[in-house]
Amino acid sequence: MHPNGSDASLGTGPGERKARTPWVEMVDRAKIRALLDTRKPGHTLPQEFYRDPEIHESDLDAIFGRTWLFAGLDLDIPKPTGWVTVQIGRSSILLIRGHDGKLRGFFNTCRHRGAQICSEASGRASRLICPYHQWTYGLDGSLLTAAGMPQGFDRASHGLKPVHLEEVAGTLFLCLAEKPPDFAPIRAGLEPLLAPHALGDAKIAHETSIVEKGNWKLVMENARECYHCPAQHPELMKCFPEIPRKKHRTDEPATAAFIEKCKAQGLPTGPFTHDGFEANRFPLRNGARSFTLDGKPAVKKLLGNVGDGDVGSLRFALDPNSFAHAVGDYAFIFWCWPKGPEETLVHMKWVVNKEAVEGVDYDLARLTQLWQTTNDQDLWLVENNQRGVNSLGFQPGPYSADSERTLIQFTDWYVTQTRKALR
Ligand code: FES
Ligand SMILES: [Fe+2]
Repeated sequence: MHPNGSDASLGTGPGERKARTPWVEMVDRAKIRALLDTRKPGHTLPQEFYRDPEIHESDLDAIFGRTWLFAGLDLDIPKPTGWVTVQIGRSSILLIRGHDGKLRGFFNTCRHRGAQICSEASGRASRLICPYHQWTYGLDGSLLTAAGMPQGFDRASHGLKPVHLEEVAGTLFLCLAEKPPDFAPIRAGLEPLLAPHALGDAKIAHETSIVEKGNWKLVMENARECYHCPAQHPELMKCFPEIPRKKHRTDEPATAAFIEKCKAQGLPTGPFTHDGFEANRFPLRNGARSFTLDGKPAVKKLLGNVGDGDVGSLRFALDPNSFAHAVGDYAFIFWCWPKGPEETLVHMKWVVNKEAVEGVDYDLARLTQLWQTTNDQDLWLVENNQRGVNSLGFQPGPYSADSERTLIQFTDWYVTQTRKALR
């Protein structure tokens, strides 16, 4: 064996298959590195990155196995003793709220012979019992009973394997890596921006999940640029500024006035960026106060502590899997998980003041109409993009340095993360 524990006899030439984790073991790392070397700066990735099963496996490890991921809302998990499962590639993850109210994350895999413990999407339980041989775990992951195991069996070292979980102003982030990247900068940037919207003390008015027939990178590329918006999202463009992601242009009187107004209401505006994470509060277009078809608020009771509610949109997005917009009266949250080389599971949630009553304080169709319409349009765009990318005629094309700045950042970030994992 090699001194670092790997088997050096597996080779280092083309086609090498170095042991690292079971996933990466399956991947031809030299092939992926060579493909990354062919990428032209400022261009889309080569075709294989959007459809090759081996690169999909690599993504599950290099990206979804190592970086921070958006994982939903604190509101998703009932207090106390609620749990949800999240499928990330081959790994089912349990997010559990303990009797103490604390949220914890674990691999949903029994420490006996590895059976999956919870098969449903969500539930409530005072303890978790593996269906196979009834090993029983506490909500803090500790192994409570393991019938038939010999005396002296060390239960303490057979608790559920934890995953890193962070909660920020009602939003959840997880990382499957044993040693995750430092989360503190993301927390420090997001918390003051998002806290006034009080998403932890709100209610989910509507949620929907769909499988899009497109690689997760095409889903996220589509979600992170608005180059296509004027042609494809006429409804959204009534209130969405064309290029909201540029740094604040404080020399523009309207933007400067917006920032001053937010300051006076105690609302920070950013922008904040850190290693694939971005947050920025920007004014809506044409005097709109909310993301609705007419720009007027959809909910009478505003979220949290957002002054008069005319607070633009706080947009926050984390590579590789999410973006969200919090306006004065609701928040729209979008995140996704890769399901296969050409399939992505997309979740969307609409969050409102917990006191707001449907039919009294808001009309659900009106609340959801703009983003639902936009996402229906995006579904077609993503699937159509995948069809074109699959063609023998596909060749990586150039991003617009202005309108697709975020995609250049995204693919650069992706390439850096993948190279790091393939080292
Ligand atoms: S695999 Fe869970 S108790 Fe045996
Ligand atoms: Fe779109």
